[in-house]
Amino acid sequence: MLEVRDLEVTYGPVRAVRGLSLTVNDGEVVALLGPNGAGKTSTLRAITALATYAGSITFDGREVRSLGVEGCAKAGLIHVPEGRHVFPTLTVHENLQVGATAARGRPGYSFDDVYDLFPALDRLRNREGWGLSGGEQQMVAVARALVAAPRLLLLDEPSLGLAPIVVKAVFAALAEVRSRTPILLVEQNTAQALTLADHGTVLVQGQAVLTGGADELSDRSAVLASYLGQKEIVS
Ligand SMILES: Nc1ncnc2c1ncn2[C@@H]1O[C@H](COP(=O)(O)OP(=O)(O)OP(=O)(O)O)[C@@H](O)[C@H]1O
Ligand SMILES: [Mg+2]
Repeated sequence: MLEVRDLEVTYGPVRAVRGLSLTVNDGEVVALLGPNGAGKTSTLRAITALATYAGSITFDGREVRSLGVEGCAKAGLIHVPEGRHVFPTLTVHENLQVGATAARGRPGYSFDDVYDLFPALDRLRNREGWGLSGGEQQMVAVARALVAAPRLLLLDEPSLGLAPIVVKAVFAALAEVRSRTPILLVEQNTAQALTLADHGTVLVQGQAVLTGGADELSDRSAVLASYLGQKEIVS
């Protein structure tokens, strides 16, 4: 459903993404891995027409560049950006109501569905955004994207800055989401990402250096760790 071919994203003299190709098919979770500054966020921003790009990105055969930001959302490309962006003065439930306005009649997740996925949020329906922990904010951000009825869910580092137990809760919910919705998952938490993903691509300085099935990437953990500048990948 998503085809990225020879993607280039540049900011003036900075070449953030160079010649990246990847595919997400219906029913799949694809991980985009890589260290700080690798070009992961730039890739997601291009896929939702937030960044200008060269090369080609098609969603169900339509070029994202011509869909534009609004058209991408309308087509069901729903992005949970880096840093969550929960509305601080709205309650949890009001944040979800804002998300639901983006569904535009596409079949998707009901409020009950997302409260089932994130029981912690059910207890916090009336809490305002500013009073939530980082983990709770991440759950709201994902839940808000789900009620927007994604046809493809784009997640930018959902585990960033969260305690391991919260990361577990978020990924447990995503494991259920994947049976309904394909996901393109950007992560630096490689071990966690590979528990969810079918396959993945490692991006370093804007270029794909390694692509393979999740098992294959886990088996090559020493190589992976060297690309990611980590000591070892434990899964
Ligand atoms: N708006 C911008 N203007 C100029 N350069 C940018 C801009 N956004 C990103 N860059 C540069 O592009 C490169 C890729 O950045 P990007 O944010 O896509 O990486 P990332 O893989 O998401 O990193 P992180 O893991 O830190 O979020 C970096 O060198 C970054 O400094
Ligand atoms: Mg990023």
